[in-house]
Amino acid sequence: KNVYVGVDLGGTTIKVGLCDEFGRLLHTYEGPTGTEHGSDVVLENIAQYTRKLVADSSHEWEQVAGIGAGIAGFMDIPEGFIKLSPNLGWRNVPVKKILEEKLGKTVKIDNDANVAALGEAWSGAGAGIPNVVCYTLGTGVGGGIIINGKIYQGFKGMAGELGHITVVPDLEAVRCGCGMKGCLETVSSATGIIRMGKEAVERGEHTSLALLSDLTAKDVCDAAKSGDEVSLRIVNRAALYLGKSMAAVSVILNPQRFIIGGGVSKAGEFLFTAIRKYYQEFTQESAKEGVDIVAASLGNDAGIVGAAGLNLHS
Ligand code: BGC
Ligand code: NA
Ligand code: ZN
Repeated sequence: KNVYVGVDLGGTTIKVGLCDEFGRLLHTYEGPTGTEHGSDVVLENIAQYTRKLVADSSHEWEQVAGIGAGIAGFMDIPEGFIKLSPNLGWRNVPVKKILEEKLGKTVKIDNDANVAALGEAWSGAGAGIPNVVCYTLGTGVGGGIIINGKIYQGFKGMAGELGHITVVPDLEAVRCGCGMKGCLETVSSATGIIRMGKEAVERGEHTSLALLSDLTAKDVCDAAKSGDEVSLRIVNRAALYLGKSMAAVSVILNPQRFIIGGGVSKAGEFLFTAIRKYYQEFTQESAKEGVDIVAASLGNDAGIVGAAGLNLHS
């Protein structure tokens, strides 16, 4: 029986998983990324964890029919390059070629959020729905577009970089990790939420956040839930621009379902209610008919399942 390996390359942890042809996760393994040691070490870690994963499972290396990897950053998929990954600190790394040399098998690479979207579409919150658009709200804001069950990559693989849609008006816009200004990521990522919280505290605004050190996005969401006005304003702003970006996506692609995952999405119904409200407010009547916005359901496994799926759904 054929099995497929999915690699989820995160800033701190590399997760690898073995899937069957139905997207069922059979076995997983994880270890530190080693980002601080540079791309050579990170790619060697991926190769080692992959071999260990298969060795520890009840499957043979020969049964591995394909390997896929999801990586955060702007991709050149046809060339197998990661062009720019602000969060890993990589520029122009030929990931596909290096991994194929190390592993002796075909490796497909794609963007981390594209791959998470594929995972959700294959066996998660989008199962059975051909057209879905996924957002991941974490350190960055990722996006993935699934059309007829497949990732839409665009010309070179940069389609679905939804975190870099310009949404914030010029006067309020701050610089994004991508080099541009006013990107969705600057307001709706965990990083953006933390930044806005810290700025409010520095301005001396009256907020319970002032009492916390090492502010997290969860702190801000929790404070908002308990009625802290400043935190409410921040979470609302994150939801506002997400909703507006979805309104834009709706008139371009008309997906049936939006799926939202990533750490920030754990804020739950509170956040989803706000996002749905803004989506409704800014989306043209016919474009939103029958469209829903739901939470991702595979959690941390979406990346590995989707990466394994690259070998079956592309
Ligand atoms: C990157 C995307 C990535 C997302 C989530 C963004 O900053 O540009 O490529 O998918 O973060 O990791
Ligand atoms: Na993407
Ligand atoms: Zn950006």
